[in-house]
Amino acid sequence: MISIIVAVSDDWGIGKDNELLWRISEDLKRFRRLTTGKTVIMGKKTWESLPKRPLPNRRNIVLTDIPQECIDCSITAYSIEDALAKCPEGEEVFIIGGGSVYRQFMAIADRLYITHVHRKAPADIYFPVIDSGIWKIREQEEFPESETNPLPYTYIIYERK
Ligand SMILES: NC(=O)c1ccc[n+]([C@@H]2O[C@H](COP(=O)([O-])OP(=O)(O)OC[C@H]3O[C@@H](n4cnc5c(N)ncnc54)[C@H](OP(=O)(O)O)[C@@H]3O)[C@@H](O)[C@H]2O)c1
Repeated sequence: MISIIVAVSDDWGIGKDNELLWRISEDLKRFRRLTTGKTVIMGKKTWESLPKRPLPNRRNIVLTDIPQECIDCSITAYSIEDALAKCPEGEEVFIIGGGSVYRQFMAIADRLYITHVHRKAPADIYFPVIDSGIWKIREQEEFPESETNPLPYTYIIYERK
């Protein structure tokens, strides 16, 4: 089972200057809950953007094209096939970014955990538009704007049709 997990703006932005567009504390907690104990696969730029490396209590697989490069404290992989071969069989694997890695895994992912953040924000990295001919909504939960939640967002889990 290959799952993509991402937070996207209303205009599909996901990052700028190698950083996230927002930090929504509840969303980051959910990310930790869903991925703890699992394998996470990410591109090298996302790895470099993490405030704490590796993500604790997860198998961290980092993709790079640079042959022989061995990224400290991670399992280094040199292609998406190599990354998948380094995952335990039969477990849900989380693709955690960034843009280049999401694009490559969209064709083979089974599930998308999307946090749709209801804001437009300047970005330089985008997520591909989700094609409703390919993906159906399995679960949806709304978090409206409130005193404690300045950024309204919706969690949607999509599954391949
Ligand atoms: N909103 C969210 O949920 C979210 C989540 C994660 C990241 N982000 C954002 O996304 C941005 C980073 O995305 P990005 O597209 O610039 O970079 P990225 O996908 O994180 O990393 C790109 C790098 O990964 C390596 N790579 C990618 N595909 C590969 C493959 N098939 N084989 C081998 N190596 C491969 C290459 O490393 P080498 O250069 O070493 O070859 C490539 O330069 C940041 O702004 C980050 O904050 C947002």
